Amino acid sequence: MPGGVAVAGAETGQGTGRVTIDDVNAADLRRVRGLVERAAAQAGIAASRATNFVTAVNEIVLNAIMHARGPRSVALQYTPDGLLVEVSDHGPGLPPQVAADGARLPLPTSESGRGLWLARQFSQRLYIRNTAHGLTVRLYATRA
Ligand SMILES: Nc1ncnc2c1ncn2[C@@H]1O[C@H](COP(=O)(O)OP(=O)(O)OP(=O)(O)O)[C@@H](O)[C@H]1O
Ligand SMILES: [Mg+2]
Repeated sequence: MPGGVAVAGAETGQGTGRVTIDDVNAADLRRVRGLVERAAAQAGIAASRATNFVTAVNEIVLNAIMHARGPRSVALQYTPDGLLVEVSDHGPGLPPQVAADGARLPLPTSESGRGLWLARQFSQRLYIRNTAHGLTVRLYATRA
C-alpha cells in the first residue's frame, strides 16, 4: 500500500506533517483503522472516543469505496486539539436528497443509510463537501 513511510511516521508520532494514503481499497481498510487508532492515541484522544472515531472513519472510507470511483485517499493530520482525517474520492458526490436530509437516522426497516449518521455521532465534527473531483469528508476527533 502506498504511504508505508507515512504510516510509520504516524505510528511514532514523528513530524507534524500531513500523512496521506493513496489508492485506498477494501483490502486497506484494516490498515486505515489501525493507523487512525494509533494516530488518535498519539494525539491524546481517550481510548473510547478513539474507538468511536475509528468506526466513523471506517464508514466514510467504506462509502468512498462503495459509492464512488477511485482513486480514494485518506489523509491524517494532527490539529491543535486532536486529529483530522480527510477522505476524498472521485465519485459523483452526495446525491442532493442525501445532502438535503443531512445525516438523518433512517427508519428501522431500512437496510442502509446509517453510515453517515454513525460517522456524525462518532466524531466531534464532520464536514462534507462536493468538489469538482468528487466527495471530500473531513472528520475531527478532539481531546475535549
Ligand atoms: N462517497 C460517496 N459518494 C457518493 N455518494 C455517497 C458517498 N457516501 C455516501 N453517499 C450516498 O449517501 C448515501 C447515504 O450514505 P450512508 O453511509 O449513510 O448509507 P449507505 O452507505 O447507503 O448504507 P450503510 O448503512 O451501509 O452505510 C448512500 O446511499 C449514497 O447514496
Ligand atoms: Mg455507508
